[in-house]
Amino acid sequence: MSASSSPPPLGIAHGPAALLADAASLEAASAEEILVWVEQRLGARAAIASSFGVEDMVLIDLARKHAPSLRVFTLDTGRLPPETYELIEVVRNRYGIPVETYFPERGRVEALESAQGYFSFRRSLEARKECCAIRKVEPLRRALHGRDGWVTGLRREQSINRTDVAVVEHDREHGGLIKLNPLAGWSRQQVWTYIQTNSVPYNTLHDRGYPSIGCAPCTRAVKPYEDERAGRWWWESREHSECGLHPVR
Ligand code: ADX
Ligand code: SF4
Repeated sequence: MSASSSPPPLGIAHGPAALLADAASLEAASAEEILVWVEQRLGARAAIASSFGVEDMVLIDLARKHAPSLRVFTLDTGRLPPETYELIEVVRNRYGIPVETYFPERGRVEALESAQGYFSFRRSLEARKECCAIRKVEPLRRALHGRDGWVTGLRREQSINRTDVAVVEHDREHGGLIKLNPLAGWSRQQVWTYIQTNSVPYNTLHDRGYPSIGCAPCTRAVKPYEDERAGRWWWESREHSECGLHPVR
């Protein structure tokens, strides 16, 4: 192999241990370097999980430049704000990429809404987690099935539950694939500087006081003194502010 040629794809076929060992050096790498690694090692066998929040828009833009084979998928819970669907269309047109969409199982949503109405998640923490399990966690399982890696926009600064997020994780919950969080160490300011410098489109709700955007009925704007996830499930205490997509540490 010449010095200039790319290393051969390593992939999960060589075993997750080999892949993880190879990825260990990424902990201190830049987001660009991480995406180059993803392109070389995983290519289309990996995907960005995108809620089309501002971090995911940085990842999509970076991936177009450094990891063009990387797929993009979204979990359409059926309860997203219209602004998010609008942005997904903008992304499709601007980047010319398919957005693979995973929807909750119809029967489970029908049973939930028939038995408990449209706002069951407001009744208790258990009811909220049940809704997230049906609309997000189960579709994520399907979205990750058969992939070797996934890339998320998690940042350590986002909340007290995320301060230990590593750049490279071994995702045993989803069958042992590799999970990469290239923006783990980024500040909110760094994210917005990237968006502005590169003219990346973003969800218009961000301009209306929504730093973090999920399902419409479970997301509100935050006050200037509140933390960035204060508008997510705001009626619950902070330590519960995760939906099950990412393990709580
Ligand atoms: S959440 O778990 O509370 O919803 P948050 O909105 O902060 O998380 O998003 C963190 C990361 O999880 C995103 O950067 C993205 O990678 C992934 N994610 C969250 N929601 C979705 C979604 N609906 N579809 C795909 N990925 C998502
Ligand atoms: Fe249901 Fe709210 Fe969770 Fe969306 S965020 S899945 S509406 S409980």
